[in-house]
Amino acid sequence: MSNSPKIYVAGHRGMVGSAIVRQLLAQGHPPENIVTKTHSELDLTDQVAVRNFFKTELPDQVYLAAARVGGIHANNTYPAEFIYQNLMIEANVIDAAFQNGVKRLLFLGSSCIYPKLAEQPMREDALLTGTLEPTNEPYAIAKIAGIKLCESYNRQYGLSHGVDYRSVMPTNLYGSGDNYHPENSHVIPALIRRFHEAKINNSHHVTIWGTGSPRREFLYVDDMAAASVHVMNLSQAIYQQHTQPMLSHINVGYGSDITIKELVMTVCQTVGFQGAIEFDSSKPDGSPRKWMDSDRLNALGWQAHVSLEKGLAMAYEDFKKNYCSK
Ligand SMILES: NC(=O)c1ccc[n+]([C@@H]2O[C@H](COP(=O)([O-])OP(=O)(O)OC[C@H]3O[C@@H](n4cnc5c(N)ncnc54)[C@H](OP(=O)(O)O)[C@@H]3O)[C@@H](O)[C@H]2O)c1
Repeated sequence: MSNSPKIYVAGHRGMVGSAIVRQLLAQGHPPENIVTKTHSELDLTDQVAVRNFFKTELPDQVYLAAARVGGIHANNTYPAEFIYQNLMIEANVIDAAFQNGVKRLLFLGSSCIYPKLAEQPMREDALLTGTLEPTNEPYAIAKIAGIKLCESYNRQYGLSHGVDYRSVMPTNLYGSGDNYHPENSHVIPALIRRFHEAKINNSHHVTIWGTGSPRREFLYVDDMAAASVHVMNLSQAIYQQHTQPMLSHINVGYGSDITIKELVMTVCQTVGFQGAIEFDSSKPDGSPRKWMDSDRLNALGWQAHVSLEKGLAMAYEDFKKNYCSK
């Protein structure tokens, strides 16, 4: 019998959840001690099903990477589903984990928890200091509730039951398992797809919306998974030294940001598109800058390893292998 903990990865078929499973296996965690369930096998919004699952499986640790996620359009069109499903997933999983003796849990949030006009780089203590971006406010409120669920269970049951639930807030992620949907994908998969299609169609130019001047931060998903496992495995003493009971979440960023123009040029080079690139400045730019302060995580001994160039090359290989036939 191995002494390694039994780990439940919720959302293991998603981009982040699948990277966490890869990371655990790469670190030598025995596959038989990783528990997974697909959405159709276990709907995490179903409280009874979640309770039964935890009662049967009795995991030692939980990575909560399941969530209803989507871009601006989906958030605007389905706000009720975004807030309801995310609140239910978090409340069901966190409470069932507690009821069934789980001591360690890692909740994955998002940088959208911070106010729209947060000072840059965004520090953890910017949480709840201002108004959220309206387009994804319901989703952000659910993610903030997830952080507060973890903190509240720690405060009420930390000493009596040894509960130690943690939260990480990733910046923009990209890489293996990304969503390359033509209309509702994030900026990197959208650019990979557009440049790839322009290359194979011998297009003369590609037009990019906006001026290219906004700055954004990007982290390769395997780095995110490595950071998640690192935070999960920190000793309680170290974790508590670097966090506060009611300000406990940890930003996970690359450490620096780049302009959209620089990103576009790097994707273009990665894909090998030879034509011209035009920036349509009549189209909206969005916020001038979104950048996480990762000092807390760096002080806990972790920093990103995968450069944008290397990450984009791996993402493009993944795209060609899994998402396109040409
Ligand atoms: N991707 C990013 O750039 C990014 C950035 C910051 C934060 N994050 C955070 O990281 C987490 C994971 O994101 P991701 O990009 O990996 O998303 P994803 O690829 O869409 O994966 C989410 C997973 O959750 C599952 N799921 C959703 N609703 C469920 C339910 N009711 N019951 C059971 N499973 C359910 C999905 O299964 P189905 O597909 O079968 O529904 C999917 O496997 C999220 O909390 C997100 O906020 C992601």
